Amino acid sequence: MKLEGKIALVTGGTSGIGLATAELFVREGAQVVVVGTDRARLDAAAARLGDHGFAVQADLRAPGAADRVAEAVRERHGRLNILFANAGLGRAAPLEAVTEAQFDEQVGINFRGLFFTVQKSVPLLDRGGSIVLTTSFLNAVGTPGLSVLSATKAAVRSLARTLGAELAPRGIRVNAVSPGPISTPFAAKMGLGEQELRAMAEGVEAQVPLGRFGEAVEVARAALFLASDDSAFVTGMELIVDGGLSQV
Ligand SMILES: NC(=O)c1ccc[n+]([C@@H]2O[C@H](COP(=O)([O-])OP(=O)(O)OC[C@H]3O[C@@H](n4cnc5c(N)ncnc54)[C@H](OP(=O)(O)O)[C@@H]3O)[C@@H](O)[C@H]2O)c1
Repeated sequence: MKLEGKIALVTGGTSGIGLATAELFVREGAQVVVVGTDRARLDAAAARLGDHGFAVQADLRAPGAADRVAEAVRERHGRLNILFANAGLGRAAPLEAVTEAQFDEQVGINFRGLFFTVQKSVPLLDRGGSIVLTTSFLNAVGTPGLSVLSATKAAVRSLARTLGAELAPRGIRVNAVSPGPISTPFAAKMGLGEQELRAMAEGVEAQVPLGRFGEAVEVARAALFLASDDSAFVTGMELIVDGGLSQV
């Protein structure tokens, strides 16, 4: 087992990529704390993770929320080895239609929430700790209607480099995992109509060189590599899991 005796915090660990990663981390021997906003999803995730899981309800957009999450980890485990800062959402809208509320919501969770989750978690991480940030293939391409989401993910890509540099002297690695289109509830929350969702799905199948959506567990395996000592000499990098969409 690759994570025997490790303590991991997984934000957005109640659904999709985060939940698949939390489950994989538990199978690899870790104790995992998951964070989400929705009570029912938190309870369902806690039930799936069993004795090795613990669910904390927090809206990471809220001031002080990252502090409270770090405090919950400290109370339960006293320390942390792995942070998977993964909670996020996207809203599709062309430039003229983007509202200030949509802008603040996406920046609030994808960038601000992630930044302070890292800041408040670092005091719990020892040498050898690993931070994995979820960015997106969107950080490298221009997709109409996804300006704010893509910019938040480019900010996250940048953080892997700057925080990787800042934390390297403390023996803490920071990397990003960069999913392409993955089958999770994410797309259904983007505010698109049924027809637009269908067109997007057809576009993915046509444009992804491997010809399909990825599965959450395929991103989880990349996150496991970055979280574990298998990547002990890797920091500041981005591991792209997108079926070749942004690469070939
Ligand atoms: N799916 C894709 O195609 C894709 C592609 C590239 C990147 N990504 C990135 O992958 C990450 C995970 O997405 P996913 O596909 O697994 O989507 P998902 O199934 O919708 O999961 C999102 C998770 O984030 C949590 N979350 C959202 N807002 C939150 C907040 N304010 N505070 C705390 N937790 C919050 C959700 O919890 P609640 O439901 O309880 O709020 C949920 O656990 C995101 O950062 C996303 O941008 C996804």
